[in-house]
Formats: sequence, structure tokens, C-alpha cells
Amino acid sequence: MKIKNICCIGAGYVGGPTMSVIAQKNPKIKVNVVDINSDKIAAWNSKNLPVYEPGLLKVVKETRGKNLFFSTNVNQHIYEADMIFISVNTPTKTSGEGKGYAADLRYIESCAKQIAKISKNNKIIVEKSTVPVRTSEKIKEILRSNNSSVDFQILSNPEFLAEGTAMRDLEIPDRVLIGGDNTPEGKKAVEALVEIYTSWVPIENILTTNLWSSELSKLTANAFLAQRISSINSLSELCEETGADIEEVSKAIGMDSRIGNSFLKTSVGFGGSCFQKDILNLVYISKSMGLNQVADYWEQILIINKHQRDRFSKKILNCIAKNYLEPKALLLGWAFKKNTNDTRESAAIYVANNLINGGVSIDIYDPKVKESQVHRDLSFINVNYKKSSVNFVDKPFSNISDYNIISIMTEWDEFKDFDWENVYTKIKKPAFIFDGRNILNMNKISKIGFNYFGLGRR
Ligand code: UDX
Ligand code: UDX
Repeated sequence: MKIKNICCIGAGYVGGPTMSVIAQKNPKIKVNVVDINSDKIAAWNSKNLPVYEPGLLKVVKETRGKNLFFSTNVNQHIYEADMIFISVNTPTKTSGEGKGYAADLRYIESCAKQIAKISKNNKIIVEKSTVPVRTSEKIKEILRSNNSSVDFQILSNPEFLAEGTAMRDLEIPDRVLIGGDNTPEGKKAVEALVEIYTSWVPIENILTTNLWSSELSKLTANAFLAQRISSINSLSELCEETGADIEEVSKAIGMDSRIGNSFLKTSVGFGGSCFQKDILNLVYISKSMGLNQVADYWEQILIINKHQRDRFSKKILNCIAKNYLEPKALLLGWAFKKNTNDTRESAAIYVANNLINGGVSIDIYDPKVKESQVHRDLSFINVNYKKSSVNFVDKPFSNISDYNIISIMTEWDEFKDFDWENVYTKIKKPAFIFDGRNILNMNKISKIGFNYFGLGRR
């Protein structure tokens, strides 16, 4: 089966970049990305894309209006497509059974219902969103019980891109994973998707499995990555107590070829839309199958992550108290990692909230995040949040030496490249900079250790 027309439901951080690359590499396939959010679609059709990702604008400019289209006309594009990617969000449930742990599949389910209602020809449905294992079964059931006149094949094709390096990850993926049914029709559907990817990905990097293996692999790949970060972060505390240097320990561990050196950078805690949500989901699935020890094992990763954020906040509060400083701090960076405008679960949100609760007034700067997003994030986790607790600044470096406390929350290059030496040689009053692990007394240091932050995988 040759695919001519793709529809992707959900123009978010995953759907937008992924479809841009599929369209670029398959100029004969028409790719329509649809979303219920009209502002987002308008932004995708402008030069101010709703997602900041290095290299994305170039690919969008190259393909938009040729074979890549962004639209709110969900029904029409579902109707026309031979292959539909579901890339809608799957947040952690905030109410009902599994509250606080299970993934909320309501958007996925409503997409399946809509597809069933509208479809008049056979279609391949691709789960792109991260979902609990066996969700494909649920999608199948919805599709088939709501429309028995067409054949739907369900595939699982989880996305492994990391934000900030999404274009490179899409261009040269470590692997593309495609799960499908082991029936003649299922195999044909898998082949159709494999063909799309072979336009640019070597066939040996395309892995085909059954549906459930594919679904579970995505969840557990994220859990493994997060587990490494919590492991190294937990050791950072031990290092501080013992006088060992976590960077030296991390390097020594990572040079063991069996362990490898990726994802061993300590941080204030991992953020992003995936790690926490996916682990909560894994914990929920394990518990619901009575595997309590397995659930506890994975939950510990999140406990350490929260502990790391709280520990870092306490360091700042103690530093202010011990040195009788004015309770005011500058937080540099709000995004959950560099090169993205995404702030979901960013450690900065939690640290800022702890500082506000500790009576500190904070100035915030991020090169890509908007002020309104900062207020949204803080009011989301704290019902008593008042806008006046934070001040968003545009040019933090113009008066940087006025601050007693500066905390670098995101490893943006502009913070690393800034001429810190010039600042701390001029400072007369006590001033402290937090680089994610250390409290550095700016009057005494000669070098700031920026090799501290987590920096992706390559
Ligand atoms: C992705 C994955 O799909 C998710 O499973 C993963 O765990 C996190 O990353 P992402 O692209 O980051 O989600 O989410 P988001 O940027 O929120 O985009 C989802 C889009 O789907 C939003 O623009 C939303 O408006 C849209 N949507 C949601 C629909 O178009 N229809 C719906 O019914 C629900
Ligand atoms: C992650 C997975 O890497 C990706 O495969 C999946 O598709 C989505 O989830 P993402 O959340 O975009 O990607 O970014 P990632 O690079 O994994 O970083 C996540 C968080 O971990 C960031 O806050 C980052 O700063 C932190 N991190 C990363 C560390 O603290 N230390 C590290 O060594 C690496």
C-alpha cells in the first residue's frame, strides 16, 4: 500500500517537527497537520512558529504550502487521509481512577471516535503519542465498534526525539520503532510506514515489533533515561557530604563502556513533559497488576527528583539567611532545557515556588520563554501565587552585579558564554552564584563550572 495522504492530529512539540521532516523527506506525500487550537495553527502558518526548535523553521519554510499544510479543518483531513498519526497530548490524570498516576487518554479516545465517524475508506492509524501498554487495543475497539464498514490497522510508532535537538534526532534517529499486528493486513500496514521512513533512515535502524512491545518500549526507554539522572543526582548529595567531586565520579563511571557516559550529568532535577508522566504511568501499570515492588522501584526516581529540587532551593534559602542577604534572587533560565521554549515540569518552576514560599522575591530571565508562561506555570502549581512575586527581566546582564544571588536554572549557551570574570572581579559585596550544584562565592571564585548541566545524548 502506497501512502499518498497523511493527516497528523496534534500540532505540538512532537506532531509539528515530526511531520515537517516526513514531508521534507517524502515530497510526493501530502501531509496535513491539524489541531483544534486555532492560535497554534495560525502560528504554524506564520514565521513565529509555536515551537522553538533549532533548524525547524528552515524545514517548515521549505515544505509549507508545497506538501506540508497546517489546518484546523480536522474532519476534512481525517476523511482524505490513508494514514493518520495521533499526536495529541496524554497528560497525567488529575481526577478519577488512577488520579495523579495514570495517563489521561481522553484526547486519544475522542480522536479515535472522530476518525471512526468520518472515515469512508480503509485507514492506517498510527499512535505517536506516548501511551500505556495495550492502548492500541482500546483504540481498535473504539474504531471497530463505531465503524464496521472500513478496515482500520493500528500501528504504534513512538517518538524518541528530545526537545532542543528534535531536528537532528528526526534526521538521524538511533532507531525508528514500529509495532503492528502479526496478521497479513497488519504486516502490510507496517510495511507502508517502513517505506515512509526508508526515504531517509537506513533500513537496519528501523525496528519492527508487536504492538505492545512498541508501546512499552517507549515508556521504559524514558524511565531508563530518567533513572540514570536520578542515580547521578542522588550521588551528588553524597559527594557533597564526602568531599568527592560528582563530575569526576560521573566521568569515571561513564568511561566504563558497559555503562556509557550519556545522561550522567547532575542537575537541579530533570524536567520536560515526558519523564515524570511516563514513570507515573509505569508505576500505575505495575501497581494495577499487583507488582508493588516494581512500582516502588520506579517511583523512587521521582522521589529523588523532587528531593534534588527541594535540596537546591534550601541551599539558596540557607545561603541568604547565613549571609544576611537581601531576600532577592535572579533566576537565569526557565525552559526545562536549553534550545526549547517548553517549560513543562521545568525544575525552575519548583525552585521558584520554593523561593517565593521562603519569602524571596525573584527576577527571571529566559531567552525564549514568554513572561505570561512563567505566571501560568507558577499559578498552576500554587493557587496562592501572585504575579507580583516575580519580575520578568529582558536584559539581566546589564545590571548583573547588583544581585547577591544568581541561580542558573537552564544551561543556555548565552549564560555559559557570558563574561562572568568581568562581573565577579568588580563585585564588592557578598554575592553567590548557583550553577546547579555548587554555591560559588563570586568574590572568591576564579572559574564557574558550567559543565554541570545535562546536555542531551550526543
Ligand atoms: C507529545 C506526545 O504526543 C505525548 O504523548 C508525549 O508524552 C509528550 O509529547 P506534545 O506534542 O509534546 O505531546 O504535546 P503538545 O505540544 O501539548 O501538543 C498536543 C497538541 O494536540 C496540542 O496542540 C493540542 O491542541 C492538540 N489536540 C489535543 C488536538 O488537536 N485535539 C485534541 O483532541 C487534543
Ligand atoms: C526525553 C527523551 O530523551 C526522548 O527520547 C523522549 O522522546 C522524550 O523525553 P526530552 O524530555 O525532550 O526528551 O529531553 P532530554 O534531553 O531527555 O532531557 C530531559 C531532562 O533531563 C532535562 O531537564 C535535562 O536537563 C535533564 N537531564 C538530561 C539531566 O538532568 N541530566 C542528563 O544527563 C541529561
